[in-house]
Amino acid sequence: MLATPKQLRELGILGMNRRNVSMIAAKNPRHLYPLVDDKLKTKKIAEAAGIAVPRLLAVVSQERSVKDLPRILEKYRQFVVKPSNGSGGKGILVVTHHDGDNYVKSSGDQISMESIQRHVSNTLSGLYSLGGRPDVAMIEALVQFDPIFAEYSYEGVPDIRVVVYMGFPVMAMVRLATHESDGKANLHQGAVGVGIDIATGQPLRAVQHGRPVTHHPDTRHKLSDVKIPHWDRMLKLAAACYDVTGMGYLGVDIVLDQNLGPLIIELNARPGLAIQVANGIGLLPRIKRVDGLTDVLKKPDDRAEWSMREFGML
Ligand SMILES: Nc1ncnc2c1ncn2[C@@H]1O[C@H](COP(=O)(O)OP(=O)(O)O)[C@@H](O)[C@H]1O
Ligand SMILES: [Mg+2]
Repeated sequence: MLATPKQLRELGILGMNRRNVSMIAAKNPRHLYPLVDDKLKTKKIAEAAGIAVPRLLAVVSQERSVKDLPRILEKYRQFVVKPSNGSGGKGILVVTHHDGDNYVKSSGDQISMESIQRHVSNTLSGLYSLGGRPDVAMIEALVQFDPIFAEYSYEGVPDIRVVVYMGFPVMAMVRLATHESDGKANLHQGAVGVGIDIATGQPLRAVQHGRPVTHHPDTRHKLSDVKIPHWDRMLKLAAACYDVTGMGYLGVDIVLDQNLGPLIIELNARPGLAIQVANGIGLLPRIKRVDGLTDVLKKPDDRAEWSMREFGML
């Protein structure tokens, strides 16, 4: 049974219209969109600000460079090919190893160099980009995901989404890849979303396709046992993305690399609303708390600490 608009309002659920008008349009200056819609730009500004991101190995921006790919990729055993202007996991090719001419994807399927070249050509022509515009292909280092997540994720890197409002982390969830989501951590592709308590980094509840779940559908592990290391570092990293982009309503996606720690993988100017379902609580009361704050907290670390004090649920 669907809740009525009135019931949703009582839970403080932020709806689509209000998100689009009061959050995205009001808090995210239009001219800043390219900073977050273009992953190459995001990577550059983040790096310049000292924020850790997966290492950029190469960029292919012209069709005539496609023939050089065997030489460019020769020195890398593992890499990810990504459309700079892509979204929703489209056009992302994760290569976990290769020997000689055989490249192997995260799914275990083999892929030939010719197929990789075709994939890059398609990327350049805009097959995976927003609005089908011509794009560039980024070649990025493979994130070595922390084994702590191995029991909760299937053939893919889990990511941690933090919604940051005016520089304050207001809500968080972990997204876990499933067989159904094809190794990608995108909820509408069937990934599991686990709401995370801002104060402690502990799981609150979990959903798949908007319905409560208790165990990972593939690994069968209990989702209430999920643990997130480096929690306060992650929140501080997320808070700092406000200063870097100037975006008042931002979805910050973080992955945990086994060797490098938390890395910013992507920023989103139009973060989805399902995070509220995963947390069992609405965004609006938290947004109001931030709006009502009279202290000026310039430092991202101070804002993250304020959020940890304010938004605990456990
Ligand atoms: N460098 C990487 N190493 C390993 N997996 C990656 C890497 N980049 C992306 N992925 C996987 O692909 C998913 C989508 O990547 P992302 O950069 O968030 O693009 P999108 O805008 O399409 O969501 C991630 O959630 C992760 O599961
Ligand atoms: Mg993403």
